[in-house]
Amino acid sequence: PYPVYSRLREEDAVHQVRFPDGQSGWLVTRYADAEAVLKDPRFIKDFSKLFGGSMDQMSVFTQNMLFSDPPDHKRLRALAQQAFTPKMIEGMRPRIQQITDKLLGEMDGKPAANLIDEFAFPLPIIVICEILGVPSEDRDKFRMWSNSLIEGTSGEAGVSVYEHMNEFIRYLGEWFAKVRQSPGDDLISRLIRAEESGDRMTEKELYGLVSLLIIAGHETTVNLIGNTVLALLEHPEHQQLLCESPDLIPQAIEESLRFNGPVEFSTSRWAAEDLEFSKKTIQKDDLVVVALNAANHDPEQFDNPELFDIHREKSPHLAFGKGIHFCLGAPLARLEAQIAIDGLFKRFPSISLAVDDSELEWRPGMIVRGVREIPVNLVE
Ligand code: HEM
Repeated sequence: PYPVYSRLREEDAVHQVRFPDGQSGWLVTRYADAEAVLKDPRFIKDFSKLFGGSMDQMSVFTQNMLFSDPPDHKRLRALAQQAFTPKMIEGMRPRIQQITDKLLGEMDGKPAANLIDEFAFPLPIIVICEILGVPSEDRDKFRMWSNSLIEGTSGEAGVSVYEHMNEFIRYLGEWFAKVRQSPGDDLISRLIRAEESGDRMTEKELYGLVSLLIIAGHETTVNLIGNTVLALLEHPEHQQLLCESPDLIPQAIEESLRFNGPVEFSTSRWAAEDLEFSKKTIQKDDLVVVALNAANHDPEQFDNPELFDIHREKSPHLAFGKGIHFCLGAPLARLEAQIAIDGLFKRFPSISLAVDDSELEWRPGMIVRGVREIPVNLVE
């Protein structure tokens, strides 16, 4: 998409889009405009407008902080925040390392692997399921439901997304009922216990939180790990450098977030009033979307933006968003990616891409940026 973004940034940085249902919208591509939109309270979320306000069933998945405005946003975010403080995340380091070592150990001795399926996918889903308290035998179901929600297809012949969503909702209802009877120490148990003390989320809001964390907690991190591995395999000089100086890994992750951010576009925002923005007249209720990866390649902000350069010292990229909706899981995503990249290149120092660059299949859709598979040779 980068040549298109580059043309848009130069020719029509805040670009008007007309959707088939008549909804008027704007795509924001320059860094300064992107940052301004994300921080401006005149651009609101209002989840009732999502899906044209018509998909009642989907509202179960959108009553969460990502689609809320203050004051609800503050309450919902504060309740979930307890599981994502820097201290809580740092405390997970040994467990993330253990899961990483186990997954890498399973690839040991093999000549080749698909890094998405065997490594980048399982790691974040196991971690987020443990945070939430999802029983380990049900993780594959969560992975399937999450794929359905993000790709809009069930992936199973004769089964619709709605059937999957109904199964998911039924599962959540039964799971919450069990937790109410015997709570543990996970996030959902703590939120359910807090219900009784008045500091509460409604049942629908709990559904919304679980869906958000499952999707946000693994769909994105899979692609952060995948895109970073890919960029490093395509730049062997950087790969070599990281093996010699692993302290550069956090910087390499930041550059990967800027260079090929896992989230292509911000979620939708609506103009709360008629307003002038970047020389455009935006009407009340117009949809505004930020092209995060276009902003992260803006030459006004980043020198030589098309270059993948792990030596960039300060990279104020927008891959995790900005403002009140700044990614709650950023510290977790960064930690998982650091441990994963460090472990992978240490264990398989001569790893290489097994296909030509042009054979990689990028996932469809506007939400995530990542490839379906990364076939690699693990040994020379
Ligand atoms: C919000 C990106 C990983 C949980 C966001 C937003 C972005 C983002 C761009 C803001 C969306 C907007 O303003 O429209 C990413 C990326 C990730 C990642 C690139 C990985 C590389 C995670 C993880 C979790 C998580 C691991 C949780 C376990 C959330 C939540 C929000 C959010 C809860 C909503 C925050 C709010 O509305 O206040 N993320 N995310 N994310 N992310 Fe992430």
